[in-house]
Order: sequence, then structure tokens, then C-alpha cells
Amino acid sequence: MRARRPRWSSVAKVALITGFALLLAACGTSDLPQDALTPAGPTARAQDDLWKLVFPIAVVVFVLVQGLIIFAVIRFRAKGDEVDLPKQVAGNTRLEIAWTIVPALLLLYIAFPTVATIFEQAAEPDEAERVDVTVVGKQYWWEFVYPQSGVVTANEMVIPTGTPVYVQLDGIATYELDDGAEDQASNLVMHSFWVPKLAGKVDFVPGHDDRYVTLEADEPGRYAGQCAEFCGLSHANMKFDVVAVEPAEYDDWIAAQSEEAGQPEDEQLRLGYDLFGANCVACHAVDGHEASVGVRTGPNLTHFASRETFAGGIFENADTEQLKAWIANPQREKPGAQMIPFGSLADEELDALAAYLQSLD
Ligand code: CUA
Repeated sequence: MRARRPRWSSVAKVALITGFALLLAACGTSDLPQDALTPAGPTARAQDDLWKLVFPIAVVVFVLVQGLIIFAVIRFRAKGDEVDLPKQVAGNTRLEIAWTIVPALLLLYIAFPTVATIFEQAAEPDEAERVDVTVVGKQYWWEFVYPQSGVVTANEMVIPTGTPVYVQLDGIATYELDDGAEDQASNLVMHSFWVPKLAGKVDFVPGHDDRYVTLEADEPGRYAGQCAEFCGLSHANMKFDVVAVEPAEYDDWIAAQSEEAGQPEDEQLRLGYDLFGANCVACHAVDGHEASVGVRTGPNLTHFASRETFAGGIFENADTEQLKAWIANPQREKPGAQMIPFGSLADEELDALAAYLQSLD
């Protein structure tokens, strides 16, 4: 009994569709902000090199295996009651050895550079030559602490180019509340720190502060980052930027960020200053403000206007109306935001508070 020949037209259709899908997947520009395939530093480059090694092998294996499956499905499909079994090869020693050894060799070929890269990237960079940054993942924003200088900022991680930045992911960070109790509420969920052009993802694990990643940027620029682990309602709104600047500019930045905010003279700014003291200091710090008590659960706003974005990198700091809308009702602007709404403030009070924040450069 002879089986019917496979329908090559259907094989051709599958091949054509697959081909088009691959072709369309290649569409796009090379300056996509979160493109991991255009690495901009040594960490990302080493990871990309591994990918370039593994991916072609994976494609060949995939096409071979899927091709054989599709061939077998079409060639040996049942035709009514007619059964046409292929030749059975169970127990064929040569075949068994071949399909055990070939994948084992392939895996070995991939394993050597992979394991070497893992060890290379896990190595701690020389303390004298690196910059340390401790990152705390909040719901839904990022805090960046520079232990070497004491600078605390949010949503924009400024780094010097050509310098290894040793990033510690802190999933413990505690904050003392007024009654002496500690707050760890922001660290009860996992986040994942991801700057696609600079390094692969590293998870925050609640209760652990021993996760590290070393990143480095070759050239100045803004590198988009994104939380890559579902952490709640506004997970997708948990963005940040790594801002790489020349080392001299970085030193200036650290010096500027280390300064305390002054007391405003202007009448409207003075009203904003007082409103900040009356409403915001339970959660936010502005170093130099007479009512501010230091590190708090919300972002440190001492140099709010030196940053381009707020609320997890989704709004522009210079957008006054957006800033007022945020203060009045954060949950309406960003689902799940943990800030208390201040909708009871009069419009001129919101104006004054926004103006004060925008004066903090
Ligand atoms: Cu934080 Cu997702």
C-alpha cells in the first residue's frame, strides 16, 4: 500500500509564511531605545556576543527539528482508514548514539564561553576604579543611592562614561518612620532592573541585597531602562533612564547633587516651600528644608528640577499642569501609585507647590 506523496504546496505555504514573519521581524530602526541587540557598553556587548554564538545554532536546530516534524506530519498523515507507518527505528544503536552525542557536543560548545562570561561578569570591579550605585526598586519608581558621596536621587541614574558602575540591587532597604518603626513595604515584591543597551536583567528579591550587576557606557547618552518583572498595577509605568556623561561632568553632577536646597525669597516659591513643609515631608526629603527630616519612603526631591522625569520616568518634570494633576490625584495619573492625593489644595497652592518643586535644580 503506497501513501500519497506529501502535498508540497502546503509545505511551501508554511515556509513562505515563516519567511515573511522573519522578514517583518527585521523591520524597524536601529535606534530603538530598548534594543538589546545594539549594545552600548562592555557588559551588554559580552552578552550580545554570546547571543550571536547561540542564536544561529538554535535556528539551525529549530529549522531542522520543525522541518522534520512538518515533513512527518504531512508525509505520514492518516488517510481515512489507510494507515501508513514510517519505518520504525527504535533500538538503532548508531542513531541513538548520534542523536545523543551531537546535542551534547553542541551544548559543550556553547557552555565554555557562557560559563566564562558568567564568571567574568560576576567579578567585582576594582574598588578604586569603579562607581558604586545602590538601586532600590519601589512601587513604581527607582531610587538611586551613591554610597561614595551620599547622593540620593530617583528615576535617573547618572554615571560616568568608560567607568565600571557596580550596581547593588537592594531588596531590603529600610526607612525609619517617625515612631521608630521601620518601613519595608516597598520591598515586598520583586522587580527586575533592566537597561537593554547596557546589561541584561537582574531581579530584585525581597529580603536580599546581594544582587549585583556591573554596567558601563562607552558614550554619553540616555539609555532607557524598564522594570522587567511584574510588580503590580503600574509595572509597565516603572521606567528610568541611565544618563551617561563624561567623567568631568559626572564629578560636577555629584558636587551639585550634594548641595542642599536654599530658602526661596520669591513670594510664590515661599508659599510652595511652606506647603511642602506642611504636606510632603512625611514621605519626601528636600535636604536643607527646615521641616525635612531626611531619607523617607518617597523620592528625594532636593534636586527635582535637575531630572527630566518623575513618577517612574513617565511624566516630564517641566510639565507644570501634569505635575499639579499628579499632586492632586496620583492614582488617577498612574494606577496603583502609593502617594497620598492632595486634591484638597487650592489651585494657587498647587501652582505654588509645583513652582517650588520646579525651582529645585
Ligand atoms: Cu517594578 Cu515591575
